[in-house]
Amino acid sequence: MRTIYFGTFVHSLALADLQVIPSAAVGVAENGTIEFLDQNASSAEASAERHSWPAGSYSVVASDPSSASFFFPGFFDTHIHASQYPNVGLFGKTTLLDWLNSYTFPLESSFSDLKVADNVYSRVIARTLGNGTTTAAYYATVHAAGTNLLADIALKAGQRAFIGRCCMDANSPDYYCDKNLEEAQKATLEVLDHIKKIDPNHDIVSPILTPRFAASCSKELLCWLGKLSTETSLPVQTHISENLLEVELVKSMHPFAASYAGVYDKCGLLHDKTILAHAVHLTDDERLLIAKRGSGVAHCPASNSALTSGETRVKWLLDAGVKVGLGTDVSGGFTPSILHTARQALLVSRHLSMKGDETHKLSIEEVLYLATLGGAEVCGLANKLGNFLPGKKWDAQLITLDCKNSPVDIFPWELEKHEDLVAKWLFNGDDRNVAKVWVDGKLVAGTAFISFQ
Ligand code: GUN
Ligand code: FE
Repeated sequence: MRTIYFGTFVHSLALADLQVIPSAAVGVAENGTIEFLDQNASSAEASAERHSWPAGSYSVVASDPSSASFFFPGFFDTHIHASQYPNVGLFGKTTLLDWLNSYTFPLESSFSDLKVADNVYSRVIARTLGNGTTTAAYYATVHAAGTNLLADIALKAGQRAFIGRCCMDANSPDYYCDKNLEEAQKATLEVLDHIKKIDPNHDIVSPILTPRFAASCSKELLCWLGKLSTETSLPVQTHISENLLEVELVKSMHPFAASYAGVYDKCGLLHDKTILAHAVHLTDDERLLIAKRGSGVAHCPASNSALTSGETRVKWLLDAGVKVGLGTDVSGGFTPSILHTARQALLVSRHLSMKGDETHKLSIEEVLYLATLGGAEVCGLANKLGNFLPGKKWDAQLITLDCKNSPVDIFPWELEKHEDLVAKWLFNGDDRNVAKVWVDGKLVAGTAFISFQ
């Protein structure tokens, strides 16, 4: 049945343009597509009449007007390692390369056991959906069977997901790697076939080609993946310039290119469907090359702080026209929440600005853009997701700040101050405030969904 959502709506129209609509109605067709967005709507029924939707042909979901609640677009997590979820918070004082060896590879290698994969993947998807993540770009592990299972679980849970089998045929431990190029190719194609079978049009789950990073792939594997992405138009995700030792390692492993970004470019991996995680230590030439190729950056501030990787210059990237979204980078990042990651993005930008350049500072509006529409752009989905404009899909959250056990205290005089409510949500809110989560028009998660079940 069609649905009219009625109440307060908050969404991004552009980087610094966060629109708050105190009383609006959004009409959503049976297939999950938004048909209208009425600003200044007096009621769902009045909007139905205006759009010739007969009584009885639609249901109504209204946010309680006396409560501090609003509809917000679903979050995009543009970079998350589903398999690393058990390790959130476990990093000690390590930095990237020793963290990979001591914490990450041992955990990922255990995904040869499908029982481990089933348990972890089910829980990370439930947790991210419950935090309002309606689209996620997932790294799985090298194992094809486990990666296929991740796709199955995401599809069943109704979370939009890019699913990547991790390719790593060089410079990796013997106990955890692709044994050779042929094995990497075979396992990669196996996953593509499986996802094609379970979701032929990739409406909800899509494969994504995933060279782990240039430091764990041979040139041959990188170029094979680049060629495959050109032939199939499949998206690509990888890491770039996260850590200074990593940058040096990539230079020594791949002297055929002048820079880290150049390695990906020479192998055909830098294009408008490429998601580059981190991008902390890029040179200006690399920034311009990435902008020219139309690739996007997954900014992972919690991870970059935890692993002391550095501070990504988000404004500097945006100024050159590079698309930017947010990534939790679980478990380099300790939180599966994009709301928390947006908070971290705002704080990291202030650390950059404290070094003397105020232009780095990101506002609340800007980090919430990165969490939604910016993420949609990075994932190549801005034409169908990211805000509530007609023609897009209803991927949304109902946020309630004055719910039972809320971590946010709201006072009576604040109820009409919607911008203040959004600020309080950004800094203190969490999944207890996520009452409902919809993907493609279907209710899939949220505290109200769980208590209803
Ligand atoms: N670079 C290569 N692999 C990884 C990973 O698993 N996490 C992060 N943060 N960086 C990486
Ligand atoms: Fe990562």
